[in-house]
Amino acid sequence: MKVSKITGGRQMLKDWQDAFGHEIYDYFNGERSYEIVERDDGYIDISGGAKNYFSEYSEWQEYEKEAMKYVRGKVLDIGCGAGRHSLYLQDKDYKVLGIDNSPLAIQVCKERGLKKAMVLSITQINSRLGNFDTILMMGNNFGLFGSFKRARWLLGKFENITTKDALIIAETRDPYQTQLKEHLEYHRLNRKRNRMPGQLRIRVRYKRYVTPWFDYLLVSKDEMALILRDTNWRIRKFIDRNGGVYIAIIEKNL
Ligand SMILES: C[S@@+](CC[C@H](N)C(=O)[O-])C[C@H]1O[C@@H](n2cnc3c(N)ncnc32)[C@H](O)[C@@H]1O
Repeated sequence: MKVSKITGGRQMLKDWQDAFGHEIYDYFNGERSYEIVERDDGYIDISGGAKNYFSEYSEWQEYEKEAMKYVRGKVLDIGCGAGRHSLYLQDKDYKVLGIDNSPLAIQVCKERGLKKAMVLSITQINSRLGNFDTILMMGNNFGLFGSFKRARWLLGKFENITTKDALIIAETRDPYQTQLKEHLEYHRLNRKRNRMPGQLRIRVRYKRYVTPWFDYLLVSKDEMALILRDTNWRIRKFIDRNGGVYIAIIEKNL
């Protein structure tokens, strides 16, 4: 398969590329929706999709509820989707900015009452956004770091937009906790390409909408520690769910 252009979401998505947004928008408007994830080895999966993106606090699992206890001060929710975490926190009087590179997802966040929401890619984050006490990357959104190199570049950028005792609350999945032949083969393929085994190159499809290819990074706890090594961030704590899913509470090296 020819991958002609890998975008980090730097440019505004065109409407036909906004598969996440259309999936979210249709669900919001009471239509059936779904999310197809296509990997660059041809593997296709259907994710939990929009229903999960609209789930209320009472439906969240314990590990997610536990992570919310670490939120403090001013919050930046990166890849906020339909805004479930942002809206929960806004209701609790936190000042929240939700960003997402999907124009329709941000429209839905606004229609649901999120006061501050912007169409912006993680790669476009800059100090003009303000100074945050908490950065949220929920729903596996540690993945938006994309690669080892890009994660370290972004962690540097995060330093400039956060207070000295800020926390990053980031969810991911240990890619090695699988027996699936196709996933194990994909890890081998990635090693051959000098990519991290859990560095998925994917695009999301819904109806005729399809996102550009992008890299989504799944990491083990050791790999996360390696990414953070010699940066000004370190792991304070892991909150585990079953199936290798976990949330990292990441703090600054003071
Ligand atoms: C798996 S969903 C998680 C949504 C939300 N955090 C939640 O837990 O319900 C990933 C979200 O990240 C957004 N996204 C994908 N690439 C992005 C990028 N480069 N910058 C910002 N958001 C991005 C998608 O549009 C989507 O809304």
